[in-house]
Amino acid sequence: MAESEPTVATPDAVPVAAAPASTTAPPDPRAGWTDDQKRAFWKTHSYFEAIPDTIGPMRQLLREYSHVPDAEMDAHLFAVRDKLWAVHKYPCIGRFAFCDLNMTKSPHYQAAVRRLRASSDERLLDLGCCVGQVLRQLMHGDGVPASQLSGSDLHKAFIDLGFEVFRDGPPEASELTFIAGDLLSDDDKSCDVLEKSATLVHAANLFHLFSWDEQVKLGKRMIGFLREDALCGGESDSDDDRLTFLGTHLGARVAGEHRIMPASPRMRYLHNTESFQRLWDEIGAATGTRWRIAHDQTREGMGEALTGNTNIQYVQYGVWRAV
Ligand SMILES: C[S@@+](CC[C@H](N)C(=O)[O-])C[C@H]1O[C@@H](n2cnc3c(N)ncnc32)[C@H](O)[C@@H]1O
Repeated sequence: MAESEPTVATPDAVPVAAAPASTTAPPDPRAGWTDDQKRAFWKTHSYFEAIPDTIGPMRQLLREYSHVPDAEMDAHLFAVRDKLWAVHKYPCIGRFAFCDLNMTKSPHYQAAVRRLRASSDERLLDLGCCVGQVLRQLMHGDGVPASQLSGSDLHKAFIDLGFEVFRDGPPEASELTFIAGDLLSDDDKSCDVLEKSATLVHAANLFHLFSWDEQVKLGKRMIGFLREDALCGGESDSDDDRLTFLGTHLGARVAGEHRIMPASPRMRYLHNTESFQRLWDEIGAATGTRWRIAHDQTREGMGEALTGNTNIQYVQYGVWRAV
């Protein structure tokens, strides 16, 4: 389905669509690489030998919520990373991105927390939740009751391993709701139980796995997960109240089809602000809804550092019901 062991394909990483007329993509520095160079890059950028020093908030969560002693922390993280990696080789697993809780600094995340804490009627669904780190952060770090939180992922094994990561099993005793299922499959009905359940949907590092058409399908699915009142809204015109979807992902200065890692088998659509609005316009037109987006670079330099391509940026996004 998504990023996996490298199958070297050519041509490499050339944005091919949706470039705004005024901008052209810088040449991809990886374009002339040999297959061996691509493989070497994939290995060094997708499976880190060291734990990044940016995971302080996750260490704090594991220390305070899961009672993992500092002396055991790194061994614990390496061990669970390798179990997750054995399930599926997403670069976000190999490079410990599932331990990155820096999205808590996003104003959209903070708005979601305000809403969830202000009313027990609010419900957040985390799509592509992986081990459920965001849900544990919301629950323990941000004081949101578990009954207001649910998550879904393609890989049930990621959800199950989340209980090993956070030492809060057994799963059947958890107050958090997790559903495993394929969001893009017409045949997989597992996630149907989540329909009309949420007032906020978090989706981090998920859009960038997919093509434009798959993202339209994902967006339509996300709208289907909204409760009627979240979809129609009340009279409020406050940004906090209208925020509906939020997350982070890889974007691009010049939007288009990109190969995220040089040896990725698939091209995915990476957005800039204009293309992400256009995506939500298309999702809106297909569902009779209207959306306004924000799509801003965050953590400058991170997108380039992760991918070796100066065109790629790390982005935080929010999507609001349009007034
Ligand atoms: C790149 S990881 C991001 C995980 C987490 N949201 C984060 O930011 O650390 C993408 C996640 O999406 C899940 N995923 C991929 N394709 C999916 C699909 N079709 N349906 C549901 N989940 C999917 C993967 O299993 C994985 O956990």
